[in-house]
Amino acid sequence: MPLPLAVLVSGSGSNLQSILDRIQSGAVDARVVLVVSNCPGAYGLTRAAERGIPARVIPHALFSSRDEYDQALLDAVTAAGARAVILAGFMRILGPRFVRSFPQRILNIHPALLPSFAGTHGAGEAAAYGVKISGCTVHFVDEEMDHGAVVIQAAVPAGAEDSAEDLAARILALEHRIYPQAVAWLAAGRLRVAGRKVHLAPASAALAEVPPGASYLVNPPLEQGF
Ligand code: GRF
Repeated sequence: MPLPLAVLVSGSGSNLQSILDRIQSGAVDARVVLVVSNCPGAYGLTRAAERGIPARVIPHALFSSRDEYDQALLDAVTAAGARAVILAGFMRILGPRFVRSFPQRILNIHPALLPSFAGTHGAGEAAAYGVKISGCTVHFVDEEMDHGAVVIQAAVPAGAEDSAEDLAARILALEHRIYPQAVAWLAAGRLRVAGRKVHLAPASAALAEVPPGASYLVNPPLEQGF
């Protein structure tokens, strides 16, 4: 049975779109039962509406504490029947009440190679720092920001001439491949967390190798359909 997902967005929702597209292609055995945004104008809400997916705005400003906001989110997500929660550019930190309700069932994507450049401006800070390699990370969400166990990472080259926008765009293209892959593994029950380690079952045949001339590295390697 497809895994019922709630997807939380604050902005464009291009990662939401990439997951919906891979669900439609049959590569991800899941169903998005609800999209929630804390921002009324988030384009992700339009993407949900275009697919006929129920969408709700729950503005954080209406709540006097994080705990009350978490409870409202939790009520919406559980009422929709979601069994896992996908953070796709959701710019709020989830508190313990929410995180503990979905143990190892919440994923986030971050536009840097964690643990480097955690926080809101990961891609921009990596570009400003002058790194030569950056990338993106899908991880389980725990009670610390950008901290939970790592599911998959993609590395891309970064250059001195890159603006923050250039690097963010290069990273985003890979986000759209690794996030649906991670959701597919979660939906298929193939992820097992032991401390900080995420084991994929069955394991990938090999660690990713970089073919000559390739401009990115993804590990564990992407499977067919991604
Ligand atoms: C992505 O860069 C993601 O890594 C970060 O927020 C951005 C969201 O983009 N968490 P979108 O809304 O999915 O287009």
